Amino acid sequence: MTRASFKVWRTDPGGGHFNEYTVDVVPGMVVLDAIHQIQATQAPDLAVRWNCKAGKCGSCSAEINGNPQLMCMTRLNTLDLLSPVTVEPMRAFPPVKDLVTDVSWNFRVKRAITPFTPRPADAPDGTWRMNQRDVDRVQEFRKCIECFLCQDVCHILRDHRLNDEFIGPRFLTYVAALEMNPLDAADRVPELRDRHGVGFCNITRCCTNVCPEHITITENAIIPLKERVVDRFYDPLTRLLRVFQS
Ligand code: SF4
Ligand code: SF4
Ligand code: FES
Repeated sequence: MTRASFKVWRTDPGGGHFNEYTVDVVPGMVVLDAIHQIQATQAPDLAVRWNCKAGKCGSCSAEINGNPQLMCMTRLNTLDLLSPVTVEPMRAFPPVKDLVTDVSWNFRVKRAITPFTPRPADAPDGTWRMNQRDVDRVQEFRKCIECFLCQDVCHILRDHRLNDEFIGPRFLTYVAALEMNPLDAADRVPELRDRHGVGFCNITRCCTNVCPEHITITENAIIPLKERVVDRFYDPLTRLLRVFQS
């Protein structure tokens, strides 16, 4: 049987440190299996958050060898097991214990976004009509599992800590899903510029690269939102028209 070394982040009164553990590797194992084996045999107090073990609940996000990934979807045969595998919590969020972070800021951000506001029904029976291409367009965004790996990797949150001014790629995707929904009647363009900070994003694509649901966050969500803000507030012709209308 192959054995592999894992360096797992453990919190301590001074902040934290990596503890090294040895794991028996069997075919098909994922990083979450290794963490569970460590819990079962060597560190019963090791804290880790997970629920589905199927890449769908978004709970087991961590940084594996420095890359934001889901522990339950990262197979050991994709990692170099000749060197220790590091497993640490998402660094963009406050630590709770070991691999668990406090991601509650994300839920507060979501509550501050103008919610879905349906237009009047299209038919007397209270139903709406929608083109299939519009359904398809927002469907991609609805695949989000709220793992917050994109928030973790975004330098505006992770390094510059502009959490009060920028909602992050996860929630720009959420706004895009609402704004591109033809049934929605709300106007979120002013809040995108003023409260949600879409202008801070400089399209590095780091968020798109880590999304386990392969949502094209930058090209399909953020860039169209930026275009809406530019069209509304910075397009010279629109500004001129607004002067004449006021
Ligand atoms: S593309 Fe924008 S939102 Fe995505 S990680 Fe880069 S700066 Fe952040
Ligand atoms: S957009 Fe992708 S990376 Fe971001 S929270 Fe949703 S599923 Fe996770
Ligand atoms: S345990 Fe649910 S996504 Fe990993």
